[in-house]
Amino acid sequence: MNHNATNSEAPVRWGIVGAGNIARRFGQGLAHVPGARMTQVWSRRAPAAVAYARQFGANACASLEALLASDIDAVYIATLHDSHAHYALAALAAGKHVLCEKPAAINARQLERVLAAASDAQRLFMEAMKPPFYPLYRKLREHLASDPVGEVGLVRAGCATASARADHPVFSFDHTGGALLDIGIYEAFLAVDWLGAPLDVQTIGRLGPTGVDTFASLNCRHERGIAQLFCGLDLQGRGDALLAGPLGCVTIHENWWNPARATIRYVDGRIAELDEPFEGGGLNYETAHFCELIRAGALESPVMTHAKSLQMISMMDSARATLGLRYAGE
Ligand SMILES: NC(=O)c1ccc[n+]([C@@H]2O[C@H](COP(=O)([O-])OP(=O)(O)OC[C@H]3O[C@@H](n4cnc5c(N)ncnc54)[C@H](OP(=O)(O)O)[C@@H]3O)[C@@H](O)[C@H]2O)c1
Repeated sequence: MNHNATNSEAPVRWGIVGAGNIARRFGQGLAHVPGARMTQVWSRRAPAAVAYARQFGANACASLEALLASDIDAVYIATLHDSHAHYALAALAAGKHVLCEKPAAINARQLERVLAAASDAQRLFMEAMKPPFYPLYRKLREHLASDPVGEVGLVRAGCATASARADHPVFSFDHTGGALLDIGIYEAFLAVDWLGAPLDVQTIGRLGPTGVDTFASLNCRHERGIAQLFCGLDLQGRGDALLAGPLGCVTIHENWWNPARATIRYVDGRIAELDEPFEGGGLNYETAHFCELIRAGALESPVMTHAKSLQMISMMDSARATLGLRYAGE
């Protein structure tokens, strides 16, 4: 008997922590998830919480404690990186399931504490790493199962954007900004998802005037191959990804982290095009998966596993160590 399974008829009731950009996108996506409802929100600036609650038909809580004491089933953490672990620990201690924005924590040590708390509380915890839940990514997995390119041995992915304002939190040392935690974590996901655990991470990069990394290039050896990854905040790059196997290669077209199109080129000359537009802004797919896991009483996603989250953040830890980037308190 599964003690964690919830009534499959009842909608999953969500409480939101933080009311910024990604929280709004999450709210828009939630409208596309059957069997899910946003009921509560808390943000540290009351006017922001009230405006958000009004937009999505939820109740604005006066405090985090009030949100966690309410009858929500799950908490979505949409604050900046440096407070993800703090709110995850609070929500788990209150017995709520937690879907936490990326990066799930700022380093592996912090993430281990969160995962231990999830295990102690017997609650579901998942990092909100959206790409694997998109229709294109799922279709690609299915396609390669029936028409393989062989075992993928190279993942090449990168993204650099030079459009963030100088006062954006991504440049803030205090908010644990930098390209690695903001962008590189996605690429680390792609690498561990196709190549397995990282064994060696070699990094070249630079820190900017605020002390956070503004560009990093990673060459990584994984259990099953090699990854070439880059992320940056001071150059304008492109965002496609390459998965190479002995029988062919896949290009996931930009932006690969919101995947909608892929081209597969086989050694024998065949070309397959996959075209799977996404709906609802894209966060709805991970949310639907999370709700299904709650109904099934699962404590971990079989797709976005705890081990992958740990491997991803360990890669970022290693890259930051090479660049000499230590956040306050580390
Ligand atoms: N999955 C994705 O596609 C995706 C895309 C973009 C961002 N993200 C992730 O989402 C997170 C938020 O990004 P964003 O673009 O939404 O940022 P944002 O627009 O600046 O919103 C951040 C929200 O968190 C609140 N907040 C920040 N620090 C807090 C703290 N210590 N305690 C309580 N509340 C705090 C802010 O409150 P105030 O207004 O009071 O400052 C604001 O409501 C980041 O970790 C980022 O990596 C994910």
